[in-house]
Amino acid sequence: MNKVVLTADRPSGKLHLGHYVGSLVHRIQLQKDHRPYIMVADVQALTDNFEHPERVAENILEVTRDYLAVGIDPHKATIFVQSQVPELTEMTVYFLNFVTLARLERNPTVKAEIAQKGYETSLPMGFLCYPVSQTADIVAFKTDIVPVGEDQLPMIELSNEIVRRFNRIYQTEVLKEAEPLVGKVGRLVGIDGKEKASKSLNNAIFLADSPEDIRQKIFSMFTDPHHLKVSDPGTVEGNVVFTYLEAFHQDKEEVAALKAHYQRGGLGDTAIKERLNTTLQTFLAPIRERRAPLKDADLKEILHTGTQEARKVAQITLQEIRTAMHLCYF
Ligand code: TRP
Repeated sequence: MNKVVLTADRPSGKLHLGHYVGSLVHRIQLQKDHRPYIMVADVQALTDNFEHPERVAENILEVTRDYLAVGIDPHKATIFVQSQVPELTEMTVYFLNFVTLARLERNPTVKAEIAQKGYETSLPMGFLCYPVSQTADIVAFKTDIVPVGEDQLPMIELSNEIVRRFNRIYQTEVLKEAEPLVGKVGRLVGIDGKEKASKSLNNAIFLADSPEDIRQKIFSMFTDPHHLKVSDPGTVEGNVVFTYLEAFHQDKEEVAALKAHYQRGGLGDTAIKERLNTTLQTFLAPIRERRAPLKDADLKEILHTGTQEARKVAQITLQEIRTAMHLCYF
């Protein structure tokens, strides 16, 4: 089955372990027999960084470097830059007609971000409407599957609503509904135990972190505040070290045994942190090695080629959209 797969990341910082478990891991699998589109969502990143465009520009190559470092292969995936496919911007303008203000304001992910960014009193429309631009990203390629973190589910729901309205109003099947594909670990908690690992909360382990940084972050992880002595029974629920062991440690039986031991008492925080350190160092070392030789010029070439390829497809869909909307006068 030839399903179209598309996903994206905002280039507002380097990618971290949360991105890995939420989305990157799927792409590495899917590139084996699909040719996923992987988009660097710079237009979306600008919706909350428009005052600092240099931040976005700087991170385009960093994110691309992260992609290649985790094993995304530009021969098996189309990696491209959102702003360089202007067809997406035109689609966004049309799609804004199919959604109400109330609907956009109800989006739980956007709502949480508005609060986090302090946009309650002065909300830029570009930010509120980014899910509509995300709809364009999805439908432009007739996407079937969107591998994403759990927080992106409301975006795909909205995208499908727009698709249904568009197709119904214009009596067409030009646009296609997409399905989300959420990782086993949909969302990774931050090292501080907060709901989500993120760059802005400064609680994430980055794919590019040095061995020393990784160790230091692991040793600062939130565990069980009531587990004072090694002999005390400890809690594994909400204990970040166990959450990360579950997500990254290959030997599931060993994780279960460690959990049982910790709950019984007799297993110290230092011991579980050392175990996690070994696990994450082993996981991140090959990623760091693949990253080292990647040159800016090569990354630019990859993005350039991928963008040309993506643009061709988006142009075809845009033409179909214009036709459905009677926008062909000459
Ligand atoms: N909103 C996504 C994020 O913050 C990024 C994104 C932009 C995206 N366009 C997309 C994801 C299209 C999936 C499909 O991570």
